[in-house]
Amino acid sequence: MIFRQLNPHACRTYLVGARGSSGIVLIDPVLEHVAEYLELLDRDQLRLSQVIDTHTHADHISGGAALSDQTGCEYLMHTSAPSQCVTSRLTDGFEFKIGSIPIKVMDTPGHSKDSISLIFPDRILTGDVLFLDDGGAGRDDLPGGDPGEHWDSLQRILGLPDHFVVYPAHDYRDRQPSSLGEQKKYNPHLKAQTKSEYVEYVDELMLGPADWMKDVVQANYACARDPNAAWIPLDVAACEVKGTLDQGVNGQQVEEISAEELKRRLDGDRAPVLLDVRESKELHGEWGHLLGIEHLPIGALSGHLPDLERHKDKQIVTICRTGGRSHTAAQILMQAGFDQVYSLGGGMRAWKRAGYPIDYKW
Ligand SMILES: [Fe+2]
Repeated sequence: MIFRQLNPHACRTYLVGARGSSGIVLIDPVLEHVAEYLELLDRDQLRLSQVIDTHTHADHISGGAALSDQTGCEYLMHTSAPSQCVTSRLTDGFEFKIGSIPIKVMDTPGHSKDSISLIFPDRILTGDVLFLDDGGAGRDDLPGGDPGEHWDSLQRILGLPDHFVVYPAHDYRDRQPSSLGEQKKYNPHLKAQTKSEYVEYVDELMLGPADWMKDVVQANYACARDPNAAWIPLDVAACEVKGTLDQGVNGQQVEEISAEELKRRLDGDRAPVLLDVRESKELHGEWGHLLGIEHLPIGALSGHLPDLERHKDKQIVTICRTGGRSHTAAQILMQAGFDQVYSLGGGMRAWKRAGYPIDYKW
């Protein structure tokens, strides 16, 4: 089998072919590299028979439409993909061959509705449903994303043999493809024991996609052939769950305080500013909220830092449901120069369990 990854950067494009057969397939080609792909095909006298996108991409414009125009190859995506220039639609369980190499399509929604994985005899191309090692998996807050469906898809992938090697559509830190067995040991997205545990884990990591990603999705829906159809920043790990945060945010060391310590500070002379970073509907939901909070959802925080300047000389305690989003919010504030920032460990759950006052009106 001929199997090569073609791109120098984070987006992975795989060239697959069978020895002795000139027809090859490109999987997840990137529009800005199309001229290089065509040059390579010409040089190695290969004929492009098919292009496959594992899903509608949000961080780059697909080369599928341009390659189909220029070579006459088929362009394949899942049957639910909104792109109109796709020439054939794939469904779960569909089997086909590249030369003598059998490939099976597996529906693996979660990162997007139209996500598929491609199963080879000894490997799986997972798209953005499963990345490598601490890269985890693709974000679920893009259009059509769904953490519950993502969990179901991961369970299907985990049903494959442990020796299958995982080839994702992205890798942002030069990780090497490794087996499913290795991923079971090291990938944080494969640690949850139940669907509800996984959904809770992912919910706590969701920030909402950057606006430019929504523009890229639209460009792919419209089969863009112009690499400038959407603006795309360089070197951003955009499809990872926290990949659109400014560089340096993840390295900030946050001090957590307990519910008891927060109560003590609130009863003292200089009560801290309480910044709740959950979504509005959560403030009057099961866990309620503390009295006197300021509210700014985590996805909007980076864009509203100037509004918080007036609190720069005060203590700020960030709050969410269980302490995940508040930890990220504290990191964003620290990166922006706020130096008295704390995150409520265990979030509203810990506060409620301690029996302290909660308000449900919002
Ligand atoms: Fe993606």
